[in-house]
Amino acid sequence: MSHFTPLPQKSAPQNPATRPPLTPELLQTLANKVAAVKNCLRRVVREHAPVAFASSLGAEDMALTDMILKNALSIRIFTLDTGRLHPETCDLLAAAEQHYGRRFEVFYPEHTALERFVHTYGINAFYASVAARRQCCHIRKVEPLQRALSGCKAWITGMRAQQSATRQGLAVQEFDAEHGLEKFNPLADWSEKEVWTYIRSNDVPYNPLHDNFYPSIGCAPCTRALAAGEDIRAGRWWWEKPGTKECGLHAKEKQDDGR
Ligand code: ADX
Ligand code: SF4
Repeated sequence: MSHFTPLPQKSAPQNPATRPPLTPELLQTLANKVAAVKNCLRRVVREHAPVAFASSLGAEDMALTDMILKNALSIRIFTLDTGRLHPETCDLLAAAEQHYGRRFEVFYPEHTALERFVHTYGINAFYASVAARRQCCHIRKVEPLQRALSGCKAWITGMRAQQSATRQGLAVQEFDAEHGLEKFNPLADWSEKEVWTYIRSNDVPYNPLHDNFYPSIGCAPCTRALAAGEDIRAGRWWWEKPGTKECGLHAKEKQDDGR
């Protein structure tokens, strides 16, 4: 089976979800939600410093980055570069650094473990089994996350409850037992439309893949564009069942064993 999914051509229709009409009602709801996020972030800094924000450079995370930097909040911002990100994602990192006039922290996989994994199982081992896929995610994401969070008392994500079945009921604040830290999801109750309204009305840089029907972007070999009517995360690890589609960064999410 071929896993190669070509990008839609430039002339293909653009995803309307990334361009919601900016109605007065939507802008008012958004203003209230932005105020709530700022209050949440200020409280996190006040009560849980030092704190770090894990940015995948996805739409939600770019909106949060904008809120953190515009309010000069004392929050570290880091990205885990797995080595398999889309070129568009790397370009966005560079564009965001230029836009905000600062560097973002970037963490990489530990090379010895990665080399051993690739030498043993092959460069695209993640397609072979859920276990191999999880091992790859562990080496490329989970272990670097542990290093990125070292010394923190809390961390922040861009997760939303509506993103997937495994995120239903997501709270703004939870205890991350895996890392022994408080974890904050300030956009937990945001809709996709609200995220894009924030991005459009604040001219936030974003990944052009979103316009090409990639609402959720991870590593290039494990992410494809959506067909009409598909669930937001259908393009992530699309060959797996919905219950296994998490990479291990967020251990509390409900997962099955992949069989
Ligand atoms: S996940 O399954 O890959 O974790 P998703 O892409 O929806 O899911 O990301 C959820 C949150 O995890 C992001 O908002 C971000 O906080 C964190 N995250 C995911 N990937 C990365 C990454 N490469 N670097 C930093 N943080 C990430
Ligand atoms: Fe590996 Fe795919 Fe996980 Fe990226 S998303 S770390 S390539 S299995």
